[in-house]
Amino acid sequence: MHIVHTLPELRHALRHAQRPAFVPTMGNLHAGHLALVEQARPLGDATVASIFVNRLQFLPHEDFDSYPRTFEADCAKLREAGCDLLFAPRERDLYPEPQTFKVLPDPALADLLEGEFRPGFFTGVATVVMKLFMAVFAGKPHGFGVFGKKDYQQLMVIRRMVQQFALPIEIVGHGTERSADGLALSSRNSYLSEAERAEALQLSLALRALSRDALAAAHALPAQLPALEAAAMQALAARGWLPDYLTVRRRADLLPPQAGDGSGDLVALGAARLGGTRLIDNLEI
Ligand code: PAF
Repeated sequence: MHIVHTLPELRHALRHAQRPAFVPTMGNLHAGHLALVEQARPLGDATVASIFVNRLQFLPHEDFDSYPRTFEADCAKLREAGCDLLFAPRERDLYPEPQTFKVLPDPALADLLEGEFRPGFFTGVATVVMKLFMAVFAGKPHGFGVFGKKDYQQLMVIRRMVQQFALPIEIVGHGTERSADGLALSSRNSYLSEAERAEALQLSLALRALSRDALAAAHALPAQLPALEAAAMQALAARGWLPDYLTVRRRADLLPPQAGDGSGDLVALGAARLGGTRLIDNLEI
């Protein structure tokens, strides 16, 4: 695997590629990231990953400084997974000057759920992903971007960004990878103590229970859902969690379900803090 840090090095390394398949990451890689690389490999004529902890998508009180940086281990894993090229820019390579031009996602999608609790998060994500896309795909007739469905709303924001800017990039979503007991794999799981790790599973169990209850109430979902969501949040809070949201939304636009929406249209999404760690998960219904 070839490793490059600067934009000219990246462009040179990709000069012969016609349709790169790209997996952007912030490092601290786990099996979920490697599954994205596996998915990317047969798609394009060069498999590219990036590692960059993007300051723009962290709020001042969040974990930018403490976000685990595990570069050597990440390189070994990417090599093993068959990645051809790793782009690992330093901050001065990607943001040589303060990034005052930003990509502002549609607030109708980006200001709810994660965007409500992490204001500006999706602007930071969209801006860096656009910069990374320009770095990898500029001048290429076609390409693929592979993203995990665990970050469900992020995947939707990126899909819409690519659609609205008419980028010649196909966005591929990969189903959430889970550990044997069902916990969604996440770089932030490494923050959990042993006891928290055992408890963490309760978020996906709560989403599963909420999904079941929502389907059972499908005949009157808009009226009944608020009480079901409140009960799900209370149950998690009673176990010591601080839930931001547990909710059922429409897959199409992440808005609350309307009469007639049912199985196949919906997704249950949750975000909650366990000790010092904020976890997210979702389940398509
Ligand atoms: O999902 C992530 O790891 C990040 O949000 C991304 C897409 C690499 C942008 O920094």
